[in-house]
Amino acid sequence: MMMKKIMLIMLLVAFTVTSALAVDGGNPRKGKYLFKKNCKSCHTEGAEGGAVTPLSKTMAQWDKFFEDNKHPGDAWSNFGEQDLLDINQFLFDHAVDSDQPETCG
Ligand code: HEC
Repeated sequence: MMMKKIMLIMLLVAFTVTSALAVDGGNPRKGKYLFKKNCKSCHTEGAEGGAVTPLSKTMAQWDKFFEDNKHPGDAWSNFGEQDLLDINQFLFDHAVDSDQPETCG
């Protein structure tokens, strides 16, 4: 009886922790690939968009940026919803205040 209760509590904790992680359904590995392929062209030092890496924002700022979906120009018009979810997840996972900050050079 006691054991069941403990299991239930552990399940609840695990669930709460997972759902605290940004958007659901984003694939960070795909996001990294898409970011390098589609964003880096404009977002390296000296390019038209200026340098952007996961470290450019905090986790909350990345989520807000994608939520607002107001990237300048029409650079994002070619991305599907899933692509943006994936990129959002990648940037979030490696944001400046994340567990694994990463520049993605
Ligand atoms: C066609 C070129 C181009 C592409 C592709 C592009 N951007 Fe941008 N991006 C820009 C320009 C231009 C700006 C505006 C820079 C400025 O105002 O100094 C910008 C601004 C930004 C900013 C800063 C906005 C802010 O207020 O913080 C972020 C973050 C950003 N882009 C992320 C991305 C991401 C992520 C991708 C890929 C999904 C991407 N961009 C693809 C050209 C591009």
